[in-house]
Amino acid sequence: MHYPFLDLKLANAPLEKELKQAAIDVIASGRYLHGEQATLLEQEIASLCGTRHCVAVSNGLDALRLILRAYKVLGQLHDGDAVLVPGNTFVATVLAVSDNGLHPVVCEPSAETMNLDTAEAMRLIDQYNVKAVMPVHLYGTPCWDERLHSLARDRGVLIIEDNAQAIGAQAAVPGLNDTRATGGLGHAAGISFYPTKNLGALGDAGAVTTSDDALAATVRTLANYGTDRRYHNIYAGLNCRIDEIQAAMLRVKRRHLEAENERRHHLALAYREAITNPRVITPTIFEGTRQVWHQYVVRVAERDRFRQFLADRGVGTDIHYATPPHRQPCYRTLADRPLPITEQLADEVVSLPIAQPISMADVALISEIINEFA
Ligand SMILES: Cc1ncc(COP(=O)(O)O)c(C=O)c1O
Repeated sequence: MHYPFLDLKLANAPLEKELKQAAIDVIASGRYLHGEQATLLEQEIASLCGTRHCVAVSNGLDALRLILRAYKVLGQLHDGDAVLVPGNTFVATVLAVSDNGLHPVVCEPSAETMNLDTAEAMRLIDQYNVKAVMPVHLYGTPCWDERLHSLARDRGVLIIEDNAQAIGAQAAVPGLNDTRATGGLGHAAGISFYPTKNLGALGDAGAVTTSDDALAATVRTLANYGTDRRYHNIYAGLNCRIDEIQAAMLRVKRRHLEAENERRHHLALAYREAITNPRVITPTIFEGTRQVWHQYVVRVAERDRFRQFLADRGVGTDIHYATPPHRQPCYRTLADRPLPITEQLADEVVSLPIAQPISMADVALISEIINEFA
């Protein structure tokens, strides 16, 4: 038996014909940037996230960088301002902050949700005079609750969602018997279309979603050299545009996103039912929300032995992430406090196979192997 953790060739195989045709159409169009594929993708993503605007860009890091930069241009953030980030995120969340001359303040996650501990976040917001919070919907689980909801409505603190891993997820909206899509919960959000994502390009791509007209216009201008009309630069901007080819690939895959997220949801439910080994802590499935399971992450104290045990039986796994940002050589001074939960999660998390073509039958067999780990 062989269960690869992720094989993108296999994952994209069911869509090969559609992807090839879409690429051929773009090649034939002669238009490779600033074209209709990007415009249509933006409309589709804005509609999915329930926002007035989407600006498609070069990648997820650039989406987050551009949002923060645009807030600086608009005078809503200033050099050195404190921006709260979770300790257990992919480094790009923090890179977006430091790249803009802002000060990252690291917050512990909750061990249960593996997302930002919002009670701790509220304490740090006061202590560090935090101007913006970046909740990360890690592994596809929405990071949203009463505290963030009221913070977002009281516009004093900006909420910038890192929606890199959660496109299509739905968060419960406090006070309403309803859900709302991630990417439309805070003031702005960055999406990554990195190839491994649930909605992945065949290269780099990303997007900004927001309902703030001024922010959207500023992001769009900054992403195109700071140009408001041809050869006229109002800002010293960047080149962070999306290619037409990638936009076309994403539009094909967008049509299959709901089915893919639904497939992952059923696999997550199946893993939860089938894994009975007390050494393995399965992730919480939250009622009233829709998690999209970009990763299915369990926790195991003896992680290295567990991974070897699975590898010996043909089951590939991965770790997201073994080294938290504050342990990276470039961020030695990031944490001024101990971060025991962040460190514990970094030592214990293991991602199990969930991407295409993993099936319900595969999950049953992988879970059997997991239950044999003693
Ligand atoms: C949480 C998080 N933030 C930001 C990014 C950056 O996205 P990208 O790789 O498209 O630059 C990623 C993805 O890779 C991510 O997982």
